[in-house]
Amino acid sequence: MSSASKLRGKKILLGVTGCIAAYKACNLVRDLIKAGAEVRVILTPSALSFVTPLTLSTLSKNKVIVDVLPKSQGGDYEASPWHIEYGIWADIMLVAPASINTVAKITHGFADNALTTLVTALRSPLLVCPAADLDMYQYSVTQENLNTLRKRGVYVLEAETGELASGLSGIGRFPENGKIIDAVYTILRGNKLDLEGKKVLVTAGPTYEDIDPVRYLGNRSSGKMGFEIAKAAYLRGASVTLISGPSNQTAYPEIKRINVRSAAQMKNAVESEIADNEVLIMSAAVADFTPKAASTQKIKKGGTAPVIELDFTEDILSSLSKTGKFVVGFALETENEVENASKKLERKRLDLIVLNSLNEAGAGFENDTNAITILDKSGEKIRHNLSSKSEIAHIILDRIAVLD
Ligand code: CTP
Repeated sequence: MSSASKLRGKKILLGVTGCIAAYKACNLVRDLIKAGAEVRVILTPSALSFVTPLTLSTLSKNKVIVDVLPKSQGGDYEASPWHIEYGIWADIMLVAPASINTVAKITHGFADNALTTLVTALRSPLLVCPAADLDMYQYSVTQENLNTLRKRGVYVLEAETGELASGLSGIGRFPENGKIIDAVYTILRGNKLDLEGKKVLVTAGPTYEDIDPVRYLGNRSSGKMGFEIAKAAYLRGASVTLISGPSNQTAYPEIKRINVRSAAQMKNAVESEIADNEVLIMSAAVADFTPKAASTQKIKKGGTAPVIELDFTEDILSSLSKTGKFVVGFALETENEVENASKKLERKRLDLIVLNSLNEAGAGFENDTNAITILDKSGEKIRHNLSSKSEIAHIILDRIAVLD
């Protein structure tokens, strides 16, 4: 499954409210549709000051609802229980952006416009993405309302910290569309905050071992798998630290990211972070060899070609003290896959090992998809067929979510 089909066939209600981030809902509609969803939009009356129904109806290819009650047609009214039909139709409803006013109304059960009325008739999960200027966002009543919604099982995607429309800087920014789509995927998968309270350390990407100031030994890992694990763990409520080798992937701003380059730097970072975490997911493709001595100057050509002498790097997982931690390793194999992975599980004293095969089309390095087998200490082996790396990330986290 590619990211283009992440929400294939899903029926999404998008409620848009009156705040400046409403203009971002236009692109959100496009991205939800690109991800395969069908989208119906509902606007609050004050959203009309920021976006037009025509824009959203053109983008969503569906009519846009603004009024709860039918308009008079020459004095006659036609009954239109649209909110009941919509409430049953949807797989999920998003209120994005959710203004402070709409958050308050939803919390207290108001049904005074089309959007709030629909929420009361909704049978599917509700995702609220509040956005506001920092003082409004942090206002104690707003925070109490958001907490009440959370306690009721509403998924609240916290606003981000950064530059705000007012020119101030702080919490209140509307999240990126990719993160909202990932949250929708997570909720539709049946996971809400099942990792809440867990502290998860993830490693990702390759490591680079320098030969001289210009050249290095590296590998083909893109970091995608580890970044997907970190993002999915965050959306499921974990507090996440991501140690990444050189990678052009992006995580969410709420994920603590530590960038490293070499295997030795990754080892140091893991050693200093492990104590603060209960789970380690070591998905990085750590280099096994490093030049004995990196040249401080660029090695010039001419004469005989240089011979680069290599040393083994230290094995991070084997050398780490893991007492009381739940540790997941990865195994990348090209032959005797299950046998080699199960030996690694034992040798590195792991709780789980995720076997990646390089022999399967669409799996492994640089792809958006992966196929894995998860082996555990009891000898159980479960194969998971080719799926998006995001789904594979969730499958791995399902094993963490059931831990006490
Ligand atoms: N790993 C590690 N430290 C290293 C090398 C690998 O902690 N110096 C970790 C990887 O992050 C992964 C697991 O060990 O979780 C297995 O990595 P893999 O490359 O498959 O195996 P190696 O132990 O390097 O053995 P080989 O390359 O011989 O298969």
